Amino acid sequence: MRTLILGGTRFLGRATAQLAVEQGHEVTCAARGVSGVAPAGARFVPVDRDDPQALAQLAGEGFDAVIDVTRQISHARYALDALAERVGHWSFVSTISVYADHTTPGQTASDAPVLPPAPPEVDGPVGPDHRWYGECKVSIEELVRERMGVDRSFICRAGLIVGAEDPSDRFPYWVRRLSAGGEVLAPGRPTDRVQFVDVADLAGWLLHAAGTGLTGTYDGTGPAMSRADLLHGVAAGLGVTDPVLTWVDQEFLLAHDVREWSGERALPLWVRLPETGGLMDRDAAPALGAGLAIRPLSDTVRATAAWMAAEPAAVRQGGLDPADEAAVLREWQAVRDR
Ligand SMILES: NC(=O)c1ccc[n+]([C@@H]2O[C@H](COP(=O)([O-])OP(=O)(O)OC[C@H]3O[C@@H](n4cnc5c(N)ncnc54)[C@H](OP(=O)(O)O)[C@@H]3O)[C@@H](O)[C@H]2O)c1
Repeated sequence: MRTLILGGTRFLGRATAQLAVEQGHEVTCAARGVSGVAPAGARFVPVDRDDPQALAQLAGEGFDAVIDVTRQISHARYALDALAERVGHWSFVSTISVYADHTTPGQTASDAPVLPPAPPEVDGPVGPDHRWYGECKVSIEELVRERMGVDRSFICRAGLIVGAEDPSDRFPYWVRRLSAGGEVLAPGRPTDRVQFVDVADLAGWLLHAAGTGLTGTYDGTGPAMSRADLLHGVAAGLGVTDPVLTWVDQEFLLAHDVREWSGERALPLWVRLPETGGLMDRDAAPALGAGLAIRPLSDTVRATAAWMAAEPAAVRQGGLDPADEAAVLREWQAVRDR
């Protein structure tokens, strides 16, 4: 099978290219080569997709499947202009950020409302908060369906992607924190929902979709679980028995400038409830029914930890630092013991 990955030099695109090589695909990765390198065994074609003609060099080849991870509307348009006629199946990696409602739990991709497409003057996400990210992905989804037809397009709206080579500080924070031991600040309630997908599972599903001609629009995420199961599962995957988790109220954390999701002073995989209760509690059943296979959490933890140990310089050090965590825990205990 001839498979073209538009990307392939980092995280999901790279994992997908790697797995495709292992599965015997004839793999081409087209990117600049700025973010990293394509995996061994894949052909790398250097292209800058800002150039409308950049993919013309591949137009004569014909591919059974294309997998595109872009966030830029023009990049998607140029790729479809150059390749749509000669490609059997087109997968576009979108995001759950396309949804208009992040409050309601249990929403399903087939009928959940999405944001409007990006306004005409916007081509890609802007600034540190990635303004227009969801809207740009909506625009690209529409372009792909329009140009490939619904019978040749697969739209995968990825949830939080975790695992080896994760460029974010989110899942790695919890691997680092639980392996360090001691009293761990666990945000919110043990029963709060969290949801994510292992990069290797998502890569496997993208290739399954390409190989079987799966079409339609799905959320690409695993089943939601409780935060207690996540933290105990991460500990278990690391071989840490009986982690000491101190659950701290959301309102107390917010009042002490502990932030949500990602970045400085943030506790990853934690968002405020009920306002953001839909973000990590989506209906994974359609994807699971359409071939998304989810590995045990312990495998994800071990793969992440092995990568963090092998490439420490590549691991982003975000989240609440140990001194700040200890200070918040001291204050919490003082309030609780009063
Ligand atoms: N991480 C998450 O938790 C998460 C959650 C939901 C959805 N997603 C989606 O999942 C996908 C993740 O994709 P990813 O991990 O493979 O990588 P990515 O971070 O989206 O990387 C973009 C890819 O495009 C290439 N690229 C960027 N600018 C280019 C240009 N001007 N010309 C040619 N190539 C260019 C990059 O390679 P070069 O820089 O080498 O050119 C890289 O391979 C994205 O679509 C993202 O929106 C991610």
